[in-house]
Amino acid sequence: MTKQTEAWGSRVGLILAMAGNAVGLGNFLRFPVQAVQNGGGAFIIPYLTCFLLMGLPLLFVEWSMGRFGGKHGHHSTPFILDAMDKRSFWKYIGVFGIFTNLSVAAYYCYLESWTLSYVYHSIAGSFSGKSAEEVSSFFGNYVSVGSGNFEPIIFWIICLVLNTWILSKGLSGGVEKAAKIGMPLLLAFGAVLAIMAVSIKAGEKGAINDGTVGLNYLWTPQFDSIWNGKVWLAAAGQIFFTLSLGMGSIHCYASYIKSKDDIALNAMSAGWMNEFVEVVLGSSVIIPISIGYLGIDKVLEMTAGGSGFGLGFSSLPYLFQQWGPILAIIAGVMWFGLLFFAGITSSLAMGTPCMGFLMDEFNFKRKTAAWTFGVTILILGAPTVFFFNYGVFDEYDYWAGTVSLVVFALAEIILFAWIFGMDKGWAEINQGADMKVPNIFKYIIKYITPLFLLAVFIFSLPGIWNKILNTDIKEKLSAATDPAVIQNLQTQMRYVNFSRLLLLALFIGISYMVYVAYKKRIKEGRFTS
Ligand code: PHE
Repeated sequence: MTKQTEAWGSRVGLILAMAGNAVGLGNFLRFPVQAVQNGGGAFIIPYLTCFLLMGLPLLFVEWSMGRFGGKHGHHSTPFILDAMDKRSFWKYIGVFGIFTNLSVAAYYCYLESWTLSYVYHSIAGSFSGKSAEEVSSFFGNYVSVGSGNFEPIIFWIICLVLNTWILSKGLSGGVEKAAKIGMPLLLAFGAVLAIMAVSIKAGEKGAINDGTVGLNYLWTPQFDSIWNGKVWLAAAGQIFFTLSLGMGSIHCYASYIKSKDDIALNAMSAGWMNEFVEVVLGSSVIIPISIGYLGIDKVLEMTAGGSGFGLGFSSLPYLFQQWGPILAIIAGVMWFGLLFFAGITSSLAMGTPCMGFLMDEFNFKRKTAAWTFGVTILILGAPTVFFFNYGVFDEYDYWAGTVSLVVFALAEIILFAWIFGMDKGWAEINQGADMKVPNIFKYIIKYITPLFLLAVFIFSLPGIWNKILNTDIKEKLSAATDPAVIQNLQTQMRYVNFSRLLLLALFIGISYMVYVAYKKRIKEGRFTS
């Protein structure tokens, strides 16, 4: 196909955009909570093992699949997978690579908009002079949209328009520029905050622990944890989410790389950069500060639901106040600004697969494709905004941001290593490579990663099944006596079921579009590879 003129402007731009794709809210909000909830030091060994045996191999696989697809003029997973094997089954597996991006973007952009709003509130001094409870209920009130509270909707729309606008400027004119501004600022803010956090002293300015107590909790390895399946699942889930694996967004970015250009060293650079930001910066801000002021037990209690919002949005703005009014503003702007940059460079990556698909298959102009993405996210995201308190947000995160990633990754690695074939695959990875990829990866990709993924998938099945049955909500229902609580849980169940149907409908809708695109290709005599 010749009409595709989109390309990366420079190698630095590509690496920063890919790193920006990976470095996201997951690094600063999700990672610390996962680590704390899974025993701190107990989490680190499974986490690093998953990075080596699953993360790195999948990075090589996804980058090379993307570049391979790009060579044939494909920029989204349905037809990238189709180019690798002609059985029509794969095209529909490829639907995941559009579906997941849309559904994750739907709730992710909402989260991203909170960070924008909190930058504003930090500057406006909305948190100053407030007690811990007041700052925390500020957040609770913020996310209760409706009955006169429309502020989140305004910030959400600003955020969507901003994403759409940057996407409409294209890769080198939009995405790459955003990454070149956002990533350095993020690193700078992160470094300053980390230094401030780690230098907290017990007994000074209200702190009860040194900043290093939190770090020690996180980084003292506990070897017995390797026998705990739950910790492994959490670690694997985090590796997926943080590296944006099993999503289709890496494939899409990589499909705009020239076929002779390196992917091996680029994949390594972006991947390691993400890990640096996650394990060094991500663990040096929220944990040392919250453990420094609140202690380990309180932090464990606050993160019990598995969410980082409690700490990131309800506590940190209050804890920053302990540093005095000026530093509180600076820290607030840096923290939420950092989150915003982390978020936007990731949500841009989620926009590109759907745009690539529309441009490749339905001749959309870039601008129209970008706005189509924006409007889709507006519609799909609305339930997460309006029914946030009924668990819709979490439901999207579970199905799209957790389960789908594993399913897609398992399928793609089987396709890559066993159907496309490991020899061809290895040649793809090494073509134009600026580094020697250790041979051992050939065997890891062929045997270890698929088995590892299969194990992760099988061990997740009971959890998935319980989720489908709504076991959690049902248990709470049978324990509840208060009619108001019972009614609330029943409403929650209805919204949760509704959001699943919506996601299913989206998947079927995209599959139908892939079917139409395929028929169109045949009719127009365009080969699908
Ligand atoms: N990796 C991003 C994060 O850590 C999330 C993400 C997932 C981004 C999928 C793009 C695609 O927050």
